[in-house]
Amino acid sequence: MKRILVGIMALSLTAFAGNTVKLKKPPKELDKYYPPNAKAPLFLYNMYQASTSFTGMLTNVQQKDWKNAEKWAGRLKESYFKIEKMVPSWKKYLRKNEMEKLVEAVKNKNIANIRKYANLVGQSCSNCHKKNMLPVKVKYHYPSVDLISIEDPVSGMDYSVEDYMKKLSTSYKLTKVFFDDDKTKRALKSAVDFTKRFKALTQSCSECHTNKIVENVYFGKKTNKALRNLVQSVRQKNKKNFMQAMNSIGGVCYKCHNVHETPLMLKSKLEK
Ligand code: HEC
Ligand code: HEC
Ligand code: HEC
Repeated sequence: MKRILVGIMALSLTAFAGNTVKLKKPPKELDKYYPPNAKAPLFLYNMYQASTSFTGMLTNVQQKDWKNAEKWAGRLKESYFKIEKMVPSWKKYLRKNEMEKLVEAVKNKNIANIRKYANLVGQSCSNCHKKNMLPVKVKYHYPSVDLISIEDPVSGMDYSVEDYMKKLSTSYKLTKVFFDDDKTKRALKSAVDFTKRFKALTQSCSECHTNKIVENVYFGKKTNKALRNLVQSVRQKNKKNFMQAMNSIGGVCYKCHNVHETPLMLKSKLEK
């Protein structure tokens, strides 16, 4: 029996290992090529340059415009070799030899070799992308909330986004619990606190967004109406209206989390 169990455990462990998604932490050297250390995402700009050059080269080969094909092949090589200058440890992904051969094939107008080496270089691009693109995007593109604080209108204290969410979530749940328990006075206090806390979230938007329009997506007329209905339905002990208001507001939590929380969860894994 024991042996069978161990066998099953080993099996399920390997099954798990096969199902694990691994994210490589981006190499430290990349920090230099992204804000706030650089003015712009310079590593990404070099990628755009590589990609445009690849297309420029192939299109001109197709049109038999050899002079321009050579120009773009040269630029492609330049961007490709620059990857190693920026991130030395990524040398292992590069096929520099094949890149040289590609430039040569374009010079010699050798279509068969152009095809062969363009494929090999292209494969090296996708091989690195498969392993590194997602973690690099998550780490360097998604903004952090670490320096943001939100003032709680109920206690007057400043909280991190995470702690503020805990407060907000507690007053949301307590509103439900007290309503369900018929403790109307407490339910009303929680509902009012919750409403204040929910509206006060808008303090934080301008940390990342420059236009006010985004606020309307979560805090527009429909949300304000649901917040008013929430307090009113507690007062009137109207269960149907209460549930409707709570669900409508819950939908806003859900929407915002899909855009703002999920990427942060991934990001925190890469920064630990
Ligand atoms: C050693 C790794 C590596 C190699 C080799 C590489 N790339 Fe990239 N590439 C990346 C990473 C990492 C990103 C994500 C950068 C970012 O989003 O800031 C990226 C992003 C890109 C993007 C932008 C995609 C998007 O959706 O934003 C393009 C286009 C691109 N690479 C083209 C190429 C081409 C073409 C080649 C080969 C000639 C190539 N790359 C080779 C690592 C590599
Ligand atoms: C830490 C930074 C940050 C904060 C704070 C923040 N957002 Fe965002 N938000 C983003 C990012 C990143 C996106 C993805 C689109 C982009 O890059 O602008 C986004 C997207 C959105 C979108 C989707 C529409 C779009 O522009 O793509 C809405 C709506 C939105 N945010 C509303 C809000 C509201 C309302 C607040 C304040 C309660 C807020 N956000 C606070 C970073 C933030
Ligand atoms: C404007 C966007 C936004 C809205 C609206 C929003 N949240 Fe959040 N919430 C976030 C972000 C961003 C995080 C991740 C914070 C972090 O990890 O630093 C988060 C995290 C959380 C967490 C996890 C906190 C933890 O312990 O890590 C809970 C619980 C939560 N929210 C509850 C709620 C509830 C309940 C509502 C609706 C009543 C709500 N949120 C509405 C943006 C929002």
